[in-house]
Amino acid sequence: MCGIIGYCGHRPAVPLVLEGLKRLEYRGYDSAGLAFLQVSKLEIIRSEGKLCRLEEKVAQTANTFAPISIGHTRWATHGLPVEKNAHPHASNSGAVAIVHNGIIENFQEIKDELLAKGYVFHSETDTEVLANCIADELDGLLQRHFGKSYAGAAQEFAENAQENSLQYLELMEKAFAKALQKAHGAYAVVLLSPLVPKHILAARLAAPLLMGIGIGEYFVASDVPAFLPYTRDVVFLDDREYVVISSGGYAVKNLYTAEPVQKEIHHIPWDLQGAAKDGFKHFMLKEIMEQPKVLRDCLAGRVQNGRICLPELDNMPVPESIRIIACGTSYNAGLWSQYYLEQFAQLPVTVEIASEFRYRKPILNSRELIVVISQSGETADTLGALRLCREKGYPVLGICNVLGSSVAREASACLYTQAGPEISVASTKAMLSQMVVLLLLALYFGQRRNTACPAEEVLAELRRLPDVLEGTLADMREKAKEFAYKYAFAKSFFYLGRGTAYALALEGALKLKELSYIHAEGYATGEMKHGPIALIDPEFPAFALAFDDENFGKVRSGILEVKSRQGKVIALLQEGTVLDCEDLWYIPKTAIPEFLALPAMQLFSYEMADYLGKDVDQPRNLAKSVTVE
Ligand code: F6R
Repeated sequence: MCGIIGYCGHRPAVPLVLEGLKRLEYRGYDSAGLAFLQVSKLEIIRSEGKLCRLEEKVAQTANTFAPISIGHTRWATHGLPVEKNAHPHASNSGAVAIVHNGIIENFQEIKDELLAKGYVFHSETDTEVLANCIADELDGLLQRHFGKSYAGAAQEFAENAQENSLQYLELMEKAFAKALQKAHGAYAVVLLSPLVPKHILAARLAAPLLMGIGIGEYFVASDVPAFLPYTRDVVFLDDREYVVISSGGYAVKNLYTAEPVQKEIHHIPWDLQGAAKDGFKHFMLKEIMEQPKVLRDCLAGRVQNGRICLPELDNMPVPESIRIIACGTSYNAGLWSQYYLEQFAQLPVTVEIASEFRYRKPILNSRELIVVISQSGETADTLGALRLCREKGYPVLGICNVLGSSVAREASACLYTQAGPEISVASTKAMLSQMVVLLLLALYFGQRRNTACPAEEVLAELRRLPDVLEGTLADMREKAKEFAYKYAFAKSFFYLGRGTAYALALEGALKLKELSYIHAEGYATGEMKHGPIALIDPEFPAFALAFDDENFGKVRSGILEVKSRQGKVIALLQEGTVLDCEDLWYIPKTAIPEFLALPAMQLFSYEMADYLGKDVDQPRNLAKSVTVE
């Protein structure tokens, strides 16, 4: 939720921040804004809607050569996505401007205190409250040291900024830390102030924030792509840490003690190419089409001499059961793996939605393995579930795509999915890579438990799949277009699947609704006759997954039941099987057809959304990384 960036360095900061925001726009895109200092005066430009609107406004501003700037692209939590609620928010005095990602849960309490002191608020946001809270702390400190508040002597402070810079910085750090100590909830905050015109302050609690280290330039941002053209050297901030950057260096400190914290510098292995569209119309299409490579990358180094190598897990005991926790598409990947984990590892598996899990009183035991799955590694509910388990002393395995993310760092062990950056808001290649890792996990535990699982056959299929998928994606896209155009009339869709296809049916429905805004429901094929079939008519089609496995006969009966109620059906089949259905979609034969069916369904949703003129990469009301509850 929300993308934030701050820059101090030798380049013109405003265009750089705008470019960075473009690469963060997937995190939120209902309004945007930036702040910079012009002759020691705080300038703020904000705009409702997408970033291009902000760009237009910035283009009309005469001087944007400031060497320091902060920016924000928003996914609304408090107040409508209108300009007055867009970030940055300045304090009443103009002493600070901040951008913020997260939710300050006790903002009303703090606001009431500030209202009583005479502060006024121009937005409905918790962020404006925080800005004023920092300014209020600062005023108190300035009063004590200089006998006047910023509010009373802004011009004087600005004129003395050079002379008193170190003292001002110390006071600003104190005010920043004191205000943040009062705030409960989640935040990544970046602050700019005319009082410390060469510095940016930033802090985090339960929301992603990292720092980029360049030569004579430093960045803070929610995600690496924001500053990837300039540096791949990154420091991941931890909760309750803050950082001060200037063009001359950085210092990370503890928010409570102000003690310096030594941080490791990580080198990011991928470059900007990995986060660019590469000539595709949308990131989503690019990410679907790169799935053969994702399959290869995800397998790389994990199979040696016919054995699964997951050294990250070698020190973990073999569990007696597995509990998988995740949200959205990652949950669907977990649900899919239940079938294989039970079959290959012969372990009982439960799969849970993270937001439900964390507010039950779950009975855990030390013999079960808790697995959390998250592409971003920052999803608030998944992270909350992980923390709950860790606090109770249970080890947690993370399956995660983003290097250095909170899930990756806080889990007892982490299996990276190695899918590369996923920019499109709708998750595609990440799910495929999660499925590979989960399948390897099933084989790995099968191996350690000496179950009679057909590891050799499965591995042979997995190795063959990248080429098969590569060879079929172009045809798949054509078929997806054909069916998308034919079925674009639909107001609702059923997705039906049984066995391993059930979780895919849920995923197919999720993709269609989030991208094309067509209502869609995923159902276990066998459940149709227990109620939902009442909805079937010629206007309410179904997308049925009918794999060539032991369920085929039953799935065929389910499809025929829909057809005999005049329902239209697109049936996704494997070559060599037949069905009495008008719209058949054949995928090549393989023992793990889900790895081909998933891209087919993704392409169908993609083509449908594109045909209907929807915003494919940034569907309305969504954000890539859901860091709020
Ligand atoms: C759907 C989608 C979401 C995410 C969910 C979890 O296309 O992307 O449903 O899967 O928000 O996100 P992660 O995996 O980052 O925890």
